[in-house]
Amino acid sequence: MAYNAPEGTADMLPAAARLWRSTVDSAAKLFGTYGYEPIYTPLFEITDVFTHGIGEATDVVGKEMFVVRSGENYKRALAEGDDSKLKSKQKLSLRPEGTAGVVRAVVQHNLVEQGAAPAKLFYAGPMFRAERPQKGRLRQFHQIGAECLGSTEPTADAEMIIMLMRFFEKMGVPMGKTRLLINSMGDDNCRPAYRESVRQFILDHEGEMCEECRRRADTNPLRAFDCKNEACARVMENAPKITDHLCDDCREHYEQVKALLDAAGVKYIEDPTLVRGLDYYTRTVFEVQVVEGMGSQSAIGGGGRYDKLAEIEGGRPTPGLGFALGFERMVLALEAAGTLADSPKRVDGYIACVDPSVRATAFDLVCAARDAGLLVEMDHQGKSLKSQFKMADKLGVRVVIVLGPDELAQGKARVRNMSTHAERLVDIAAAKRLLAQFGGNLVGGGAAPVSIDALFDAEGAE
Ligand code: HAM
Repeated sequence: MAYNAPEGTADMLPAAARLWRSTVDSAAKLFGTYGYEPIYTPLFEITDVFTHGIGEATDVVGKEMFVVRSGENYKRALAEGDDSKLKSKQKLSLRPEGTAGVVRAVVQHNLVEQGAAPAKLFYAGPMFRAERPQKGRLRQFHQIGAECLGSTEPTADAEMIIMLMRFFEKMGVPMGKTRLLINSMGDDNCRPAYRESVRQFILDHEGEMCEECRRRADTNPLRAFDCKNEACARVMENAPKITDHLCDDCREHYEQVKALLDAAGVKYIEDPTLVRGLDYYTRTVFEVQVVEGMGSQSAIGGGGRYDKLAEIEGGRPTPGLGFALGFERMVLALEAAGTLADSPKRVDGYIACVDPSVRATAFDLVCAARDAGLLVEMDHQGKSLKSQFKMADKLGVRVVIVLGPDELAQGKARVRNMSTHAERLVDIAAAKRLLAQFGGNLVGGGAAPVSIDALFDAEGAE
């Protein structure tokens, strides 16, 4: 029986994998200019890292986490009827997002020392949420995220938002069809009273609202702003707005963030109902949505400030903020806009063999070319010369080197430029000497250190 990838997951085939890699490279380059360094945390964490950090009452934790058990602990829980006897460190979950794990790592390794500059970290990798799969909603998806810990200043908020918007712009996300929503969620000072007023509002309108929202009144009343039920949405239009309940400090912080965005020419829409689905947020929250071609999953990225999260994860009080963008959703936005940049596989040359007697020399030349950083292919299937040329054409190579027994007897090979059809006889030893000059330049990647065209000028070319 043949199997498919699990529901809600997708294989990243070479073209998509190339795009993922080049997107992560672009992010590393851009975020690097803002001082960000890479961090990799485990794909699974002790479940408490998520339940405490993201919040037990959120959908992400309450409904969507993939639970992980070692085989041994799984069997034990089965035998005992439940897993209540497992220790906290034996209860693991796949990460539904990156922030909680990064903050756990920052606390564990004391990455924000007292008086030190903020820790600026970015990550890229798969996240896992057991949601109902649909267009733009996967169970394993890929995020690129950034977290900055150690600053309460509004400049840090503005910098984070600007960095995200610059990245989207650079990747070709159509800015005219994209909107940036921002809001302030307040802090411990002003949010509890606001939360209570929303709770009261929901209870006052209980009869008009869905069962889930009625339940949310006590567990997580602000989530009612995100309810997809039309009746609830209508009721919530008149619910109290956080922006009318911010304390002076939060209001001032929010005003400063907006002023900085204005000064930077970043357009935004204030949305007092933007509450986001994770409980750790305080003050600034933001979301980037693409308004065309996305179906119901229009958010390509989002984030905000989380000044209490480090303490929740067991660390010293350390303010922080960050964002994550969804790679698959960004690709959907680029496809819809027709701006998805193709990054085709680069194949420099093909070494064709006239007959099997020259294969060993061809193989030797292929190895020398690869050591010089060129992407060169040869036939491994015993194809005819005609088929080898077809293959070279299909690969889109610039140069084909034809090795035949007669030329080889004189130490020569024929080099053909596939676009101009110009041909030259090249001395194989000279070509190898030329390639050898570039050997060892490979590690570090990037552009080929030698151009395949240089073979035309190899000493001894006729
Ligand atoms: P989030 O809004 O839950 O925030 O996710 C960020 C982005 O990940 C979304 O805007 C979306 O593009 C993508 N995404 C989320 N769920 C899925 C899914 N099931 N399938 C495909 N794409 C998805 C966070 O994760 C926070 N950790 C962001 C953050 C960082 N806040 C502070 N720092």
